[in-house]
Amino acid sequence: MSSPQQLIALDGLVARPSGSWVRRKHHYLDRYCGITATGMKNKWPRRVYLDVMAGPGLCKIENTGEELPGSPLIALEHEFTDWMFIESDPVLADALAKRVAKVNPKAQVVQDDWATLVSKGKLDFDNALVVAFVDPTGIQQVPWDALQRLLKGNRTIDVLMTIQYAMGITLNANNYIESQGEQTALDQFLGERQWRDWRWRNSSDFKDQVLARFFQKMEALQFKGSRQMTVEAGGRPLYRMALFSRHPKADEFWQKIIKYDEKGQPELL
Ligand SMILES: C[S@@+](CC[C@H](N)C(=O)[O-])C[C@H]1O[C@@H](n2cnc3c(N)ncnc32)[C@H](O)[C@@H]1O
Repeated sequence: MSSPQQLIALDGLVARPSGSWVRRKHHYLDRYCGITATGMKNKWPRRVYLDVMAGPGLCKIENTGEELPGSPLIALEHEFTDWMFIESDPVLADALAKRVAKVNPKAQVVQDDWATLVSKGKLDFDNALVVAFVDPTGIQQVPWDALQRLLKGNRTIDVLMTIQYAMGITLNANNYIESQGEQTALDQFLGERQWRDWRWRNSSDFKDQVLARFFQKMEALQFKGSRQMTVEAGGRPLYRMALFSRHPKADEFWQKIIKYDEKGQPELL
């Protein structure tokens, strides 16, 4: 049975309800996977794509009914040697496993919570270049402890991440501040509670400080952030796609692939 938020696709399995903005996210994911998996082929015999919140593998645009491949099916098109897809929802994981099996039976689908897997050391890859896609529906699904463990467990990892700042941070700024002693999504995301002492003018300023603090914490682990790309819905910012890596090559690749947007238009850099 699918939940009310899920749609049934033409293949009879559940799809993820999406807006047309999903094209922009998938465009950058597709291009980054392509340039990295192919460009690093000679240097890294083992190239792992890790999708920690993979979804069902198919997105359906709600108002048009159009079906588009989700991040796992996009990554399967590229020259990785290993794929690991994690999805906590059993119905979505089952749909994903069926779709993935048709394309590449070697790819692994795991139905579990990624934070639990990472804490057990199950997401450490030896002698491999890892491209990890961290694509939550909210910031609470990316606890700092789990992200930090993922980064520390992999020597060579690029993390492509969607940061759900509009709903997750800006809109909730006042709720967070009023939360006092409670554990909030923001405490989870930043892995600290000191933000309660910050001074800020408005919710946008608060959001900027949260993002700056997050980038600072990534830098403390030697992960440099590349230029963030904003994804908008109906002219309003929704989230940003950010790339983090310890290696300058990642940024070099990112700069190349962001030159053109999902419509083939030059991006204003
Ligand atoms: C934004 S969707 C992923 C969309 C997919 N990356 C794509 O582009 O096609 C996020 C998914 O993460 C799953 N999820 C949420 N928390 C999770 C967790 N802790 N571990 C694994 N999956 C999780 C949700 O069920 C949802 O399907």
